[in-house]
Amino acid sequence: MKKNMNLQNIVENNNNILEKANSPKTFIMLGDSIQILKFIKNKSVNLIFADPPYNIGKDFGNNKDKWNSISEYIEWCKNWINECMRILKDDGTMYFMTATQFMSYLDVFVSEKYNVLSRIIWSYDSSGVQSKKMFGSLYEPILMINKSNKNQYTFNSKDILIEAKTGAKRGLIDYRKNPPQPYNTQKLPGNVWEFSRVRFKMDEYENHPTQKPEKLLERIIKVSSNKGDVVLDPFAGSFTTIAVANKLDRCGIGIELNPEYYKIGLRRLNLAKEFNGEILCKIKLRKTKNKSKYSCLIDNQGILPLCENL
Ligand SMILES: C[S@@+](CC[C@H](N)C(=O)[O-])C[C@H]1O[C@@H](n2cnc3c(N)ncnc32)[C@H](O)[C@@H]1O
Repeated sequence: MKKNMNLQNIVENNNNILEKANSPKTFIMLGDSIQILKFIKNKSVNLIFADPPYNIGKDFGNNKDKWNSISEYIEWCKNWINECMRILKDDGTMYFMTATQFMSYLDVFVSEKYNVLSRIIWSYDSSGVQSKKMFGSLYEPILMINKSNKNQYTFNSKDILIEAKTGAKRGLIDYRKNPPQPYNTQKLPGNVWEFSRVRFKMDEYENHPTQKPEKLLERIIKVSSNKGDVVLDPFAGSFTTIAVANKLDRCGIGIELNPEYYKIGLRRLNLAKEFNGEILCKIKLRKTKNKSKYSCLIDNQGILPLCENL
């Protein structure tokens, strides 16, 4: 963390923060980010990753994922996008996600007002049942934006190189170079990113219906921030962004509306071992009803206890 920086100072204290917890590298809040974002200082964070409700009717417990109309949802999104862009430093970057069918509306909005750097596709395979009457949806769009095309922004390309599978693997020589050289063994990824979704068997699995993979956040945080930078996630869910930011020596600020998910954050980020008298232990619940070889370990409520760390 950069010297003398106190994460809590970035956010003015106010009644909208229902609960909060912090460590030198982390500050998490329980509350409505539409209200809390207003109290975060201008130009105070380096990177924002926003993964909001997609308006598709997921069950997030105490909050909705379905608006009355597309235009209401888009207006709601414009509101937090503008707040986030106010909070972002001039050389900062924001990535945000939404459902494929709504991204085009938001793309037009941010293209006119800000600057689109990349249109990324997170592509994954599915073991689930796919429609037989249309093409199954196996990707989610991510927009990478900054304030203006005149602004500098962090892009640590060397930190996210991937294996180059073509010429280098076959030991070919690139004769377009003078003098000719072997093909590079590594390359920068393109804008189609293949990462598996988070599966029940994976260590990182949390009880959240739309948890994003750590590998996805790792790429974003490594390329678009530096050690000690501040990363904000206004829809933290299971606090993946903040967990990965901390692992990579960045500071993380997360806001989440559901107390059940806030408790995941407290435990996942090692901020507390209990909350209001409740011991915080990792309890895995299935997101689907599919059975796996682990089903013998699950009791009759579908709970796989994993409290051995306590
Ligand atoms: C798509 S999920 C985020 C998942 C997260 N990226 C992860 O890896 O776990 C959206 C989250 O936003 C939360 N949420 C919805 N409305 C909110 C609001 N107004 N303020 C803060 N959080 C909100 C939901 O409870 C849900 O956990």
